[in-house]
Amino acid sequence: MKILVTGGLGFIGSHTVVELLKENNEVIIVDNLYNSKIEVLEKLEKITGKKIKFYKYDLVNKEEIEKIFKENEIDSVIHFAGYKAVGESVKKPLMYYSNNLISTINLLETMNKYNVKKIVFSSSATVYGNPGVVKYTEELGRKDASSPYGTTKCMIEKILEDLYASDNSWNITILRYFNPVGAHESGLIGEEPNGIPNNLMPYVMKVASGKLETLSIFGNDYPTPDGTGIRDYIHVVDLAKGHVKALEKIKEGLNYYNLGSGKGISVLELVNTFEKINNVKVNYKIVGRREGDLAEYYADATKALNELNWKTEKTLEDICKDSWNYEKNNK
Ligand code: WQD
Repeated sequence: MKILVTGGLGFIGSHTVVELLKENNEVIIVDNLYNSKIEVLEKLEKITGKKIKFYKYDLVNKEEIEKIFKENEIDSVIHFAGYKAVGESVKKPLMYYSNNLISTINLLETMNKYNVKKIVFSSSATVYGNPGVVKYTEELGRKDASSPYGTTKCMIEKILEDLYASDNSWNITILRYFNPVGAHESGLIGEEPNGIPNNLMPYVMKVASGKLETLSIFGNDYPTPDGTGIRDYIHVVDLAKGHVKALEKIKEGLNYYNLGSGKGISVLELVNTFEKINNVKVNYKIVGRREGDLAEYYADATKALNELNWKTEKTLEDICKDSWNYEKNNK
């Protein structure tokens, strides 16, 4: 199949491109390089040994999207492109709403025009809001998200639902990620957030490599075994494979799947495992809780297993080893 991957040079997009090419798909990447680097393209070609067609275009420019569909017979789209920094979205909500929504609407309108009606959308567990349970099933449905970033995910899910209700010849699969971490075993691609990392694993890596001094652990007074927050960390390669499965099995209609390990890991468990596996020290201090953080949540991923024949295979040890390998290769 010929697949357009929007945001295909980003963290999850690039790993998904590798897995798509491994399954002999043809991939076209569109990325505006806002939160990615052109060097990733060359690394992807090195990993896969394949040439990849790339458009440095911005999805907010509808003419540019049209050019891609005019020049290529696209079968389906995986839509990753969008701003995704929770903290930044609180400071710049209009930038997030306009970018994430306009780019998605432009994409969907162009897909419709060219009769390309298969899409896999990159959503997030953040759409569940604070549901009052720790194990999330798809049936929980959306609640109020805790940031403008999360709200754009909720809004785009709703746009897709309304689109499907108006025309059920669309095949729409919505994938709700838990906490993507790790890196490709080659050490050539991985998570490279702009600026100071907000998320735990990239911060741990910067402290372990000496680029940052100390990790602040946001609270150890949660109602969890060791008092620190519990999340479902999923290796980005497992996550990427989930997209390939979602495309292979894209069913008639509109479907939602949680992509997570189904296991909750605490901050301290992750830090201690990272130190042990990599034989490095991660300096940390316990500070107050971060505004908006939940104590604990993780995926019920049985639906993806039953319907997509997908489950995670990588362990927390693999995550820590591959993350550190990437950090060392990209000093
Ligand atoms: C994980 C745990 C923190 C940083 C976010 C987004 C979510 C999704 C995944 C896109 C928590 C603790 C963190 C630090 C810490 N992204 N922590 N010190 O908040 O679970 O989810 O990323 O869809 O939308 O909200 O991820 O990595 O920020 O936090 O103690 O410096 O690590 O309290 O318990 P989070 P995170």
